[in-house]
Amino acid sequence: MTRHLRLVLTAVAGSLLVGLSGAVVSHAQAPAAAATYTSDGKLTFPADYRTWVYLSSGMDMAYVEGGGGQMHAFDNVLVDPAAYRTFLQTGTWPDGTVLVLEVRSAEAHQSIDKAGRSQGGRIAVEAHVKDTARFRDAGGWGFFCFHGEQPGARIPATAACASCHQAHAAVDTTFVQFYPTLFPVAKAKGTLSSAYLAEEKAK
Ligand code: HEC
Repeated sequence: MTRHLRLVLTAVAGSLLVGLSGAVVSHAQAPAAAATYTSDGKLTFPADYRTWVYLSSGMDMAYVEGGGGQMHAFDNVLVDPAAYRTFLQTGTWPDGTVLVLEVRSAEAHQSIDKAGRSQGGRIAVEAHVKDTARFRDAGGWGFFCFHGEQPGARIPATAACASCHQAHAAVDTTFVQFYPTLFPVAKAKGTLSSAYLAEEKAK
């Protein structure tokens, strides 16, 4: 879904001197300091995201009829632990939340596997960050795409990322309907978005 943007961002990242220079200037609000930014507004790569809380994996998900390519892929979704704890209490995300979507290849016939698929190399990493002051122009959320582990550039609020998440995601522009430990919490706390509820009702 993000191939085009990745190509563009690859070109941009290649032409800039980024990262590794100690240019981190600001922090997300307490208690979650999962998001830090460079002086030019890029999101620092969250190097420890694989120690965060695991929410779900999608396999070969496609968002339009007939969508999906030849290549098989998994996506893994993780969230910073402080945000996860707050969600369990409130059914929604605090300022400073960082959610990561990691795409990995789906490999066949690895080792003793005769039939299914297992996860291979990392193909892409994207982030969805809540910061109501910083992203005031976009409903309080910013989308970022990383090129390797360099700081990731913010994706414009006008891109398809924001419109799909706003129109279809179950809680505060995040796809909690696909995260089995959180969906029951959102239902119980009554935090499902009106867009999501209307879409379900129309089915
Ligand atoms: C047509 C709909 C659609 C578009 C466009 C889209 N996404 Fe998503 N996104 C999803 C769905 C569905 C999930 C849930 C994936 C899963 O369950 O594994 C998701 C999950 C995510 C997550 C995990 C956290 C969350 O918000 O639930 C991130 C991060 C993310 N997308 C980033 C992006 C970025 C960056 C773009 C644009 C480059 C983008 N998405 C475009 C549908 C979309």
